[in-house]
Amino acid sequence: MPSSKDQRRLRSQEWFDNPDNPAMTALYIERYLNYGLTRGELQSGRPIIGIAQTGSDLSPCNRIHIDLAERLRAGIRDAGGIPIEFPVHPIQETGKRPTAALDRNLAYLGLVEVLFGYPLDGVVLTTGCDKTTPAMLMGAATVDLPAIVLSGGPMLDGWWRGKLAGSGTVVWESRRLLGSGEIDYEEFMSRVCASAPSMGHCNTMGTASTMNALAEALGMSLPGCAAIPAPYRERGQMAYATGRRIVEMVWDDLRPSQILTRDAFLNAIRVNTAIGGSTNAPPHIQAIARHAGVALSIEDWEEHGYALPLLVNMQPSGKYLGESFQRAGGVPAVMAEMLKAGKLDGTCLTVTGRSVTDNLEGQCSQDQDVIRSVENPLREDAGFMVLSGNLFDSALLKTSVISPEFRKRFFERPGSEGIVDARAIVFEGPEDYHQRINDPTLEIDETSMLFIRNVGPVGFPGSAEVVNMQPPDAMIRQGIEHLPTVGDGRQSGTSESPSILNASPEAAVGGGLALLRTGDRVRLDLQERRLEMLIDDAEMTARRAAYKPPELTHQTPWQELYRQHVGQLSGGGCLEFATAYQRVARVLPRDNH
Ligand code: FES
Ligand code: MG
Repeated sequence: MPSSKDQRRLRSQEWFDNPDNPAMTALYIERYLNYGLTRGELQSGRPIIGIAQTGSDLSPCNRIHIDLAERLRAGIRDAGGIPIEFPVHPIQETGKRPTAALDRNLAYLGLVEVLFGYPLDGVVLTTGCDKTTPAMLMGAATVDLPAIVLSGGPMLDGWWRGKLAGSGTVVWESRRLLGSGEIDYEEFMSRVCASAPSMGHCNTMGTASTMNALAEALGMSLPGCAAIPAPYRERGQMAYATGRRIVEMVWDDLRPSQILTRDAFLNAIRVNTAIGGSTNAPPHIQAIARHAGVALSIEDWEEHGYALPLLVNMQPSGKYLGESFQRAGGVPAVMAEMLKAGKLDGTCLTVTGRSVTDNLEGQCSQDQDVIRSVENPLREDAGFMVLSGNLFDSALLKTSVISPEFRKRFFERPGSEGIVDARAIVFEGPEDYHQRINDPTLEIDETSMLFIRNVGPVGFPGSAEVVNMQPPDAMIRQGIEHLPTVGDGRQSGTSESPSILNASPEAAVGGGLALLRTGDRVRLDLQERRLEMLIDDAEMTARRAAYKPPELTHQTPWQELYRQHVGQLSGGGCLEFATAYQRVARVLPRDNH
């Protein structure tokens, strides 16, 4: 902590210590005394540190942060700061209908307003469940106050009858067993509940563990923060260290704009491949980049992320869960293996005030079966393919989840050379899919491709995780667990489905997917990265002329506002107008009286 004569005047003093305007200063300060803070503290020129609290009874994935806040406060105090905790709009992936994705931008808006409008000098972003991490980072990018991420950490590993039961992944597996009649409702419930044994977020490499890992890869958390399971003692110790560090960051004036550079985002894309990260990472990372004012395109994901190896052996791409990942060294070990092989930019600045290379000194994998080296990966070329064609401008395919069996059956049929012709079966949303998937008149067989539309940001609204449709029960009983699926929605990061998803533009805004009909022939050419409906120009023109956008029914005011302003998944699904606001903390808000 600097001695008082070196202290810079901090932003919070414009509220709490302005002798030129005693009436305003008194008004700003008096109510913060009513729970025991003193004038001496608030007028001492010490950094006021916000704790953006994402945990609550409604947000069990992040509820650990209610406890961690105590260790954060201790760290902030010990470093000379004053902690002030405030609530963030809850975003619980498993609890919120119609989808938690709708709430990411709402929590973002709320955070921007709080960080801008209150006497804060820096902020700790508490993260965990899927959308909480991007929402917090998007807000921090827009405001550009010193900010640091504290992950809540994953749950302990789940077990069911002596086998690992991973969050989400166990649902998709059990859903197939239920469909084929191998288990009943009671066993289905027990299996899935066994995957949630403690506080924390999903213990698989789903969207939560992915986004917390990428926050660390971006340089926005202390090294080693992402993977520590929520109940471990190291989690509380990490909270304490994070609290101490944010106070120093305020004195150093180290802001997100210095850390969130294009090179840092490219590192995040690379790390996403190595960990077998979620297909939700691209929309979230795109959104953070846009709010940070950094140029990043969906094509960057294939260009910088495809030809890299999968190193982390964790469900859904591999077999282990979060505790093994932590014991093997977590994100620092992955990044160290990549850096050693020249697959990472080590020069990027991080919240430590030091570079990625400096942070990774002495790190390496502690278990070669859980975190592999680049020379001995689980899979080569394990990143996302970015496809295009007349159905959409872009869509993603996560190659690390394609099983050898599926690859053989669909992409390597004799004589196909990676080109697959299929018959399209089109569903108008999840309700339509559930109603008709077992309808024999659809004649779904091994040469079918399942499509789902009107489930994107505008269509659903919010974009639903429904593209990982499973085949009809009769096919599952014959041992066919997956068909190729395509859609303008998303799928859970815990899914092992080889879907083509996040199609942009979506059908509800006139994307080509809107014109497809059941029975059409489609052609997938993986070499050329194209998916096309095989329809002649005259027919296409006629369908386009006959196209009517779907009638959108809003159920809440936010749904209506969201639909008016949301962009497509390829651009991060941002509120488009909001991306024009950058580094808003450069100016002060007006006085309120
Ligand atoms: Fe919250 Fe997976 S449901 S992290
Ligand atoms: Mg989900």
